[in-house]
Amino acid sequence: MRKKLLAANWKMNLVPTEARALIAGLRAEIDRDSAALAGDREVMIAPPSIMIPAVAQALAGSSIMLGAQNMHFDDKGAFTGEISPPMLKSYGVTHVILGHSEHRHVFGESDELINKKVLAALKHRIIPILCVGETHEEHDAGRALEVVLRQLERGLEGVSHEAIGGMMLAYEPVWAIGSGRTATPAQAESIHGALRGVILERYDRQRADLVRILYGGSVTADNVDSLISKPDIDGALVGGASLKADSFARIVKARTH
Ligand code: 13P
Repeated sequence: MRKKLLAANWKMNLVPTEARALIAGLRAEIDRDSAALAGDREVMIAPPSIMIPAVAQALAGSSIMLGAQNMHFDDKGAFTGEISPPMLKSYGVTHVILGHSEHRHVFGESDELINKKVLAALKHRIIPILCVGETHEEHDAGRALEVVLRQLERGLEGVSHEAIGGMMLAYEPVWAIGSGRTATPAQAESIHGALRGVILERYDRQRADLVRILYGGSVTADNVDSLISKPDIDGALVGGASLKADSFARIVKARTH
């Protein structure tokens, strides 16, 4: 059985004092109700990279895992402003979000660049969470499936049979991000099923059953249960609702079936 992953993407929010307070609040909630983390789920927080050291410290001794929101594909070099996989590893980062729509659309990241980052993460044994998602216009034009499958195919270029089991996917429809408009559980489940179908086609049943596919886009404490109780929705990537301890704690404790 795939464990559900409830993942916080803080985006460009909070300063270290706020981050420490949020994590203290979250740990108090989760530790008080330890069943919240019983066996069937995992929790991850991806802070802005400058706060990774502070968050790593605040998470010491916790089962909450540490993620990054992006990284460069090279180990080191003349890449002003960038962060490398070994830097992330040195702070205990286990997951990295790659190809987030804000990186694709605001910063113009290409499928080719994102693919290089996926391969670099796998090489360094950081779990890449490869994000795919169609824009509002593509959605309205009925092109959602075509777009996400293309992004997936290109993102997976060169990912071996051995490596694929070490990665995750996230379906984040651009029109649902930060908009309060969530994909319906049925809409998301249908895209997730198609994404899993690609893994089955390119790899095999065992890998298709292994790869976790998260949903992201206006997930809240109120809609998380209906989304993650779907068989192909293996968790949530949460932006806005992850910035308050009580709301993210409720998401962490979501009903999974
Ligand atoms: P919101 O939850 O704020 O819609 O953001 C989703 C997202 O982009 C997570 O990566």
